[in-house]
Amino acid sequence: MSKGRFITLEGVEGAGKSTAMRFIQLRLNESNIDTLITREPGGTPIAEEIRNVLLHTKADEKMFPQTELLLMFASREQHIKQCIEPALTSGRWVVSDRYVDASYAYQGAARGVNLAFIKALDEEIVGSLYPELTFLLDLPAELGLERAAQRNPTKDRIESEKIEFFEKVRQGYLDRAKEDPKRFVIIDASKNIDEVSLQMQLALDSFLKAHK
Ligand code: TYD
Repeated sequence: MSKGRFITLEGVEGAGKSTAMRFIQLRLNESNIDTLITREPGGTPIAEEIRNVLLHTKADEKMFPQTELLLMFASREQHIKQCIEPALTSGRWVVSDRYVDASYAYQGAARGVNLAFIKALDEEIVGSLYPELTFLLDLPAELGLERAAQRNPTKDRIESEKIEFFEKVRQGYLDRAKEDPKRFVIIDASKNIDEVSLQMQLALDSFLKAHK
């Protein structure tokens, strides 16, 4: 049995990841591909508990950037070993709502954690388990935050950051995409749903053609 394929979805808050995820799921279903849909931080019971610590800690205790980074990678280690690796080995495809690029964008570019430290964790924990296709839903941070606020006015710890933070996240993602243009497909997420779906459809169909 051949190994499954690994796809990830990234973007700033309010970029429309949930809609994009539903679209990918539908398309893979139509192609009769057995797919595991998952997310980070989270994806296993322990990793979901770590997610809860990451996103819902009390505002009166500051979480330090390296604590945040290490918890992201702790969650990722569980997720990879418990969930992603076994699924791919058994031939299932995996689509993850966020993965290691988010650590470079949020903890690296936005929080300012030392890049060499992130790279070391990346090599140790992710290693070669990189996605073959990463959709980056790109849009101005301001528009993303407006959309996110309309959808859900209650913010978690990270969503409560200022606009400058999300501008750095956006730039961090774009820099990652520039470093690995073969893997990344940048989607203009400022467009309406139909146009975003069309952009995704083109990229996904050519990936399916090459890899199914
Ligand atoms: P998000 O994916 O936005 O979930 P939801 O759409 O359900 O709110 O929430 C995850 C948050 O975690 C988001 O703010 C980005 C952040 N994050 C990091 O900072 N670093 C990481 O490595 C990952 C995976 C996520």
